[in-house]
Amino acid sequence: MHIPVLKKEIIEYLNPKPNENFIDCTFGQGGHTLALLDAIEPNGKVLAIEADPELYNKFQQEGGDENSKSKIQNRLILVNDSYINLKNIIAEKNFGPVNGIVMDLGLSSWHFEESGRGFSFKEDEPLDMRYNPQINSLTALEIVNSYTEEDIEKILKDYGEEKFSRAIAKKIIEKRQEKPIRTTFDLVEIIWSALPGRFQRKKLHPATKTFQALRIAVNSEIENVKKGLIQAAEVLGKDGRIAVISFHSLEDGEVKRFFKRCQEINIFEIITKKPIVPGFEEISNNPRSRSAKLRIARKII
Ligand SMILES: C[S@@+](CC[C@H](N)C(=O)[O-])C[C@H]1O[C@@H](n2cnc3c(N)ncnc32)[C@H](O)[C@@H]1O
Repeated sequence: MHIPVLKKEIIEYLNPKPNENFIDCTFGQGGHTLALLDAIEPNGKVLAIEADPELYNKFQQEGGDENSKSKIQNRLILVNDSYINLKNIIAEKNFGPVNGIVMDLGLSSWHFEESGRGFSFKEDEPLDMRYNPQINSLTALEIVNSYTEEDIEKILKDYGEEKFSRAIAKKIIEKRQEKPIRTTFDLVEIIWSALPGRFQRKKLHPATKTFQALRIAVNSEIENVKKGLIQAAEVLGKDGRIAVISFHSLEDGEVKRFFKRCQEINIFEIITKKPIVPGFEEISNNPRSRSAKLRIARKII
């Protein structure tokens, strides 16, 4: 089960009021959406977007108990799409005015634990890593088995900030000549063998950064964040707030720079001079939240 990260802070800073309308660009398992729907009763609506068709169907089928279903009926508009199409989705659903937007970037715990698509180095699964296998054809399998050594090294360095990007890329090329790299465990073994012994005992699992980098590359996550932020800034109404949670420095850097540029041209006022991070209690209840950073801005025009 996915525990929504910084939920209390999202509600506090977005400050939803009865009958307002919000957009959740990254529905996941609906933690932030449901909290917003509660706060904007009785008539406020949430337009929620989820890229993953399986997660989308899961909520459509399970969607909570009868009581919670009736509470959100006609107030939740859930679409299976990417937030990079935000403007079109809003136009199609005739949604607005928009009082606030939340983006909780990356992947859900469900992806690690249940999707079976190779997001976790702890499970032996096919190397897929796509959020939407119906529209995205590029997989992690294709990257590790067909990209050049230079391209793999660049992905690991740029998207994973992996110190051993060169050594890992070299080992991947060497090993795939013996046999194709098919599963997460094949890849984990290669990563272990590429690292000098003394780095194999570090606290962070040596495959963490490589897996993060491949996932970001497969799903074009950095490009998507840039596209999503631009559209979010456009569709947000005056005085509306945008809240973005990121989980690594690359994403956070994009959000920070974007907010700053918007402030310079008098579109945004930055509310969080420093990002908000989870407290000790949240991190101990939900270790996945430990790297979260929340930034908030208000649209002033
Ligand atoms: C961190 S989770 C969101 C969790 C959610 N806030 C909750 O409380 O359950 C991020 C979600 O965004 C989805 N996602 C990733 N890229 C997306 C995109 N471009 N458009 C829409 N959803 C996307 C992922 O499939 C994942 O379910």
